[in-house]
Amino acid sequence: MKRTKIADLLSQPKVGERYLVKGWVRAFRSNRFIQLNDGSTINNLQAVVDFENFDEAILKKITTAASVGLTGVVIESQGSGQAIELQVKEIEIIGEANPDEVQRTVMQPKKHSLEYLREQAHLRFRTNLFGAVFRVRHAVSYAIHQFFNDQGFYYIHTPIITGSDAEGAGEMFRVTNLDAKNPPLNEDGSVNYTEDFFGKAVNLTVSGQLEGELAALALGQIYTFGPTFRAENSNTSRHLAEFWMIEPEVAFNDIHDNMDLAENMLKYICDYVMKNCADDLKFLNEREVQEQQSKPQNERNELGLIERLQFVTTNDFKRITYTEAIEVLMNSNHYKKKKFKYDVNWGTDLQSEHERYLVEKEFKRPVIITDYPASFKAFYMRANDGCEPGKETVAAMDILFPGIGEMVGGSQREERLEVLQKKCADFGIHEEDLWWYLDTRRFGSVPHAGFGLGFERMVMFVTGMTNIRDVIPFPRTPQNAEF
Ligand code: 4AD
Ligand code: MG
Repeated sequence: MKRTKIADLLSQPKVGERYLVKGWVRAFRSNRFIQLNDGSTINNLQAVVDFENFDEAILKKITTAASVGLTGVVIESQGSGQAIELQVKEIEIIGEANPDEVQRTVMQPKKHSLEYLREQAHLRFRTNLFGAVFRVRHAVSYAIHQFFNDQGFYYIHTPIITGSDAEGAGEMFRVTNLDAKNPPLNEDGSVNYTEDFFGKAVNLTVSGQLEGELAALALGQIYTFGPTFRAENSNTSRHLAEFWMIEPEVAFNDIHDNMDLAENMLKYICDYVMKNCADDLKFLNEREVQEQQSKPQNERNELGLIERLQFVTTNDFKRITYTEAIEVLMNSNHYKKKKFKYDVNWGTDLQSEHERYLVEKEFKRPVIITDYPASFKAFYMRANDGCEPGKETVAAMDILFPGIGEMVGGSQREERLEVLQKKCADFGIHEEDLWWYLDTRRFGSVPHAGFGLGFERMVMFVTGMTNIRDVIPFPRTPQNAEF
């Protein structure tokens, strides 16, 4: 008999039909009711065993976390809580699980702290919460591919091992094939790291943007979706050393087209998750409601998880320039009462407390901030024309989300060769290292723009999880790289 997935069975159950299901036991009550989960849905199938019909030895092996195959007939459920249940006729024990050992794991059915679940990252997949999170994570990635594919974008795979530092922030992990016991040495006896990668120094990529631009300036509109790495030692709930980024790049787009594309994409993702992950969202929503109850009133979310997604899909994002944002902050009572830890002044980057104020207190919606000072933004961003001397800005955009902070960073790119060459010189970037990038500006250069979406931050937003380590299956942070 062919196995039926529990999601399929529950969505279209045929009363009176025989089914075979396989999964993991979540609970076995009164030697009679099995709660079975196979990962296809957050919902368990209730299976009813007439214990008189089965060997004691078999029943003993039906324990939490054990895997079983159950053949039975679907009947209408007598109890409340489920419409149907499976009347079990045959039981196959596939893999046993020692109950004493299950006791020391996150599979023990009770409420566990997220910290404890993180310590057992190898088993947390088995919990309802992480099942829901990773199903939604899948849906978000699928929605992104669908969004771009529908508009004729090409998915380009950019290198993981690269010689360039796209962001110029020096936050790169080096890649080496040096023989640790026998490294090549300089004349003074120090290790010669320039030999790293068959004679060249290379790193793990921090962004696929520069390579993405090469493709966009021929294929028109492309996106990347791959792992990126940052050797920043930030031990925060928003940073990972290894995270996934989506980077669209579009020829002939300016900064306004870029904002429209990003806003449409973010709305599309929220809409997709609401339409396709209803059961998981309901579970995550309820989890958040419970969690909020333990918090003081003023720290609770004004809107629930599903309401927040609805809000994003139905309201325009606020768009302001950096200069306007500084004015708003300086005119705020918060500033006047000296409640910000960091000072606000034109020319320094916004701190996360400032971003949170704008998004959560002032505008209460996603905010796109544009036209930042050139001084603290990347070399490739397009210089705005007609700036006051000393107040030079670039066509940059950051999208800030409530509860998350920076979700997207992007810009229109500097397409003018001489301006870009001057920028390289100012930033201490050697033209020899970026000759391939500069070449695109030599041969039919065009205005173009793109952005990067931090995939895990988006998954945080749509699941309501507040720590980035809880939305990626295997978090890589300064403390966490067990496997
Ligand atoms: O703002 P960032 O550094 O921009 C770039 O890398 C550009 N090359 C993107 C582009 O224009 N094509 O990073 C983009 C986004 C951030 O807004 C944030 O959401 C996420 O990537 N991000 C991180 N997510 C998790 N952990 C980290 N350490 C992150 N650093 C950035
Ligand atoms: Mg950024």
